[in-house]
Amino acid sequence: MRLPSHLGIEHGRLRIGGHDCTTLAEIYGTPLYVTDLDRIAGNFRRFHAALAAHYPQTQMLFAAKANGNLAVIRTLAAEGAGADVFSAGELELALRAGMKPERLLFNGSSKSPTDLALAVETGVRVSVDSLEELRQLDAVAAEAGKTAGIAFRVNPALEVPTHPKIATGLKTSKFGIPAEEITAAYAEALASEHVEPVGIHCHIGSQILEVEPFARAAEVMNGVAGEVTDLGVDLDFIDIGGGLGIPYHHDTDAAPTPEEYAAAVMPVFLRGIRECGIDPSLWVEPGRWLVGDSSVLLVRVNSVKRAHRTFVNVDAGFNLLVRPAMYDAYHEVLVAGRADAAADGTYTVAGPICETGDLLAQDRGLPAPQAGDTIAVLDVGAYGFAMSSQYNSRPRCAEVAVTGGKHAIMRRAESFDDITATMETPDRTA
Ligand code: LLP
Repeated sequence: MRLPSHLGIEHGRLRIGGHDCTTLAEIYGTPLYVTDLDRIAGNFRRFHAALAAHYPQTQMLFAAKANGNLAVIRTLAAEGAGADVFSAGELELALRAGMKPERLLFNGSSKSPTDLALAVETGVRVSVDSLEELRQLDAVAAEAGKTAGIAFRVNPALEVPTHPKIATGLKTSKFGIPAEEITAAYAEALASEHVEPVGIHCHIGSQILEVEPFARAAEVMNGVAGEVTDLGVDLDFIDIGGGLGIPYHHDTDAAPTPEEYAAAVMPVFLRGIRECGIDPSLWVEPGRWLVGDSSVLLVRVNSVKRAHRTFVNVDAGFNLLVRPAMYDAYHEVLVAGRADAAADGTYTVAGPICETGDLLAQDRGLPAPQAGDTIAVLDVGAYGFAMSSQYNSRPRCAEVAVTGGKHAIMRRAESFDDITATMETPDRTA
């Protein structure tokens, strides 16, 4: 199987960042997320360089929903990243990681009064998703005696080749304002006293393995940029979102590189701003591409059962990696201690959760997994731990970082006490 450069196989054993996965599993226990922070920094530099080669005023905003670990966000902050934050919690994380408020965009299609107040207080830019939200934000900013810098989220009404649950720019999607209503929205924003329209924003979807949809989205954004510039909006930034996919099928996915993405999108963007006579910053919001391939999930085989298929029962399932159950997502799996051994049969890796759909990988060729083996699930750095739960009252596992030849905990495992820590039992006898 093809592996990215931070993964490797030595004497048949899978390594990440130079560390033997089986040994890490022994040291820290399983299940275990292991993340290579140096890979994340490298991914960031490559993506940024690909765009900045066309247009130096490019600002990368990490989509913090993809991975909410502070060590990860700090790694990206140190590289100069800002963040797309989709909740007050993600805003808090980004600020704690040392990101500057001016490099953050507060996104979201359903912001609460508290969210809006926090956005105003911290001075971050807000991606506004409806006219009602605009009016609420104006009122909140007025009360605070401040002005909020905003972009509207544009719904570009684009079909994109990805799982329907993660296509976000469809005409029918809950996100954004239809392109044909956008000019009126900016006119209202211009007339509002406590909001200042300074950007435009869109995001067409996630895990997109073609570059052409991004070029089409950039074209839609050019139209919007022209209209709002004519209206008198002084555009500080144009944010084209994230969405570039990664090759989850290592040997067969043809995933575009950031350079190919830039070659498709940048000429469209550059033509657009030239025609408008403006020089805004370009903002992009990659999540998956920056962190997806940086992590493996190490799980232990509890038992192997031959039934209508052969199930390899492991110690984590959709409680720690929901993508296969939720999107039928594919992740490569390897027996970490015999990573280059020939398959002796076809196996289905099943989690311990009480649901039929709790399968991490189906019908894969593996070399005779046995109880006690460590299995590595690859490419879990994006939307992996971030979407985990305590379902079946299973404490979440630890996360280990590898960087500079060392390994260390970046999140301790939860205990049973952590599960009950927030619970109270009201007295029913009163
Ligand atoms: N910007 C906005 C406004 C977004 O909604 C998203 C992702 C991104 C940026 C980052 O997209 P990326 O570069 O990571 O594709 N849980 C799903 C993915 C949901 C994506 C939601 N929005 C999964 O596991 O595939």
